[in-house]
Amino acid sequence: MSNLVNSINLNKTPNHIAIIMDGNGRWAKGKGMQRVFGHRNALTAVREAVDGASDIGTKYITLYAFSTENWNRPKLEVDALMSLLISSLKKELPDFQKNGIRVNSIGNIEQLPSNAQKVLLNVINQTKHNTTITLTFALSYGAREEIVNAIKNISKKVVNKEIDIEKIDEKIINNHLYTFNLPDVDLMIRTSGEQRISNFLLWQMAYAELYFTEVLWPDFRKEHLFNAIIDYQNRERRFGKTSEQIDKNE
Ligand code: FPP
Repeated sequence: MSNLVNSINLNKTPNHIAIIMDGNGRWAKGKGMQRVFGHRNALTAVREAVDGASDIGTKYITLYAFSTENWNRPKLEVDALMSLLISSLKKELPDFQKNGIRVNSIGNIEQLPSNAQKVLLNVINQTKHNTTITLTFALSYGAREEIVNAIKNISKKVVNKEIDIEKIDEKIINNHLYTFNLPDVDLMIRTSGEQRISNFLLWQMAYAELYFTEVLWPDFRKEHLFNAIIDYQNRERRFGKTSEQIDKNE
């Protein structure tokens, strides 16, 4: 493990990592257990990912905890996920404070049960001055819903003459997304072997490197994160330029 960390160039770490935490259900099924057992055993992986990102100096980590589509899951599973969210936020608060973790959320938070909203807003408020890393939970989040929401809000401002149509640019759109206070995603990791984006941060991942691993989320540990980072560092991010331009730092 220490070898793995030594292989990481700390001057070239991703500033923003986004993770699709997939495979909890299959992990539980593989053990002959109910799906909820997988979600309950996902918290160690969450801690390892956040600690690992923090260790290498990453400033933003965003976790896809509950999608707009997840509301269609059986009520029992939705309720269990909400309870898990509430209990783990409460339980982790002292560690968030100790480790300088600022908690943030993106998504249509008003759709969450009111007790979940309350706990979430309290943790966000209590951790707002922490500066080591920003941990964003995507909750009731869908990228298309986010874009629709942004368009509605921009349109209202156009009607009210607060924004001139000709002035609408990428920056204005960015400022109306749930992620207005987050930088673009540099690295997106998805576990469990699925190779899809699944309506996650579509705008923000325009230039992200994508990394897929077969590991099921409850088994995800720092070493898996570090392997993803090493893979990321071996890629050349060109942002539409040529290799020669990148080499010359143009
Ligand atoms: C995907 O696995 C996981 C989810 C839909 C929920 C993610 C939730 C957690 C990791 C729980 C902890 C998070 C918080 C914020 C407390 P899946 O159920 O789709 O697995 P499958 O594809 O194997 O069925």
